Amino acid sequence: MATTESKAPAKDSRKKVGLAPNLDSGFYGQDIISVSQFTRENLEHIFGVAEEMRAIVKRVGSSDLLKGTVLACLFYEPSTRTSSSFIAAMSRLGGTVIPITQGVQFSSVSKGESLPDTVRTLESYADVIVIRHPEMGSAQTAADYAQKPIINGGDGAGEHPTQALLDLFTIKEELGQIDGLSVGMVGDLRFGRTVHSLARLLCLYDVQFNFVAPEILRLPLDVMNEIRKRNLPVTETYDVAEIVADVDVLYITRVQKERFSDLAQYEEVKDLYAITPELMEKAKEKMIVMHPLPRVGEISYAVDSDPRAAYFRQMENGMYIRMALLAAVLGKV
Ligand code: CP
Repeated sequence: MATTESKAPAKDSRKKVGLAPNLDSGFYGQDIISVSQFTRENLEHIFGVAEEMRAIVKRVGSSDLLKGTVLACLFYEPSTRTSSSFIAAMSRLGGTVIPITQGVQFSSVSKGESLPDTVRTLESYADVIVIRHPEMGSAQTAADYAQKPIINGGDGAGEHPTQALLDLFTIKEELGQIDGLSVGMVGDLRFGRTVHSLARLLCLYDVQFNFVAPEILRLPLDVMNEIRKRNLPVTETYDVAEIVADVDVLYITRVQKERFSDLAQYEEVKDLYAITPELMEKAKEKMIVMHPLPRVGEISYAVDSDPRAAYFRQMENGMYIRMALLAAVLGKV
């Protein structure tokens, strides 16, 4: 995949969209690259807008808030939820989409076009670009070259900030609060970018972390250090049964096969964890099971009918959060 070695030009002022942009929220014209950009206050703003978006969708299906605006979806890696929820979000707000989501091999990337030139091209046609790319830091690189807002839809094993927002929104919607919760994170904590982003975002709250992973999939040190800096309580174990009775949120992830250089190592750890009805018997009556999806065996289908299985509601929330984010970076809310 071609990138460029040249230095990005300095970013000048953002091209403005619409006549009376909302400058108060602080999101207008901004890139969304990392959860470190968020505060409790601006999260509350986005969550409030997401609730309004849900009400609009349930009541009338769509709005023309973003009529006349264009989103470019540039996906160098496979996606079902992130790509389609962004497309649905833009469509339900009256905008249109350039969908480079079915494989960049059908774009000029296959001719060797660099990431900076690709984003420069797309921003000539679109008002905002969502990018997913296998390299950590790629969304920031795109943002360095683009004048229009770039939204990180997942950069390698780095971050997935919009997923973390929808995860946090789901926790709040399901359990009514975030402070005081005990959160278990299970599975691929090393490569799982959703875990990295959610753990960082949860550092804004008063939570207890319980990490469950084999040695080779433990949480990266930089994320752990951020938690330690906040003096939040942390436990680490290999065995999910040790924590299941104590947690309010059980967040399990797929082992990310595509990030392993040694597939034999992947085979050793791929089936270590599974949420089953038997395990759920030990869990609290009021708790939730979450998964960013796709699942490949980590949650038994028999758990789907358990009211504590929140992963499909979590997935739906992604569209409302992405509607809110698009409206925010385009200066409408
Ligand atoms: N959760 C998530 O990012 O799913 P997709 O890979 O399907 O976009």
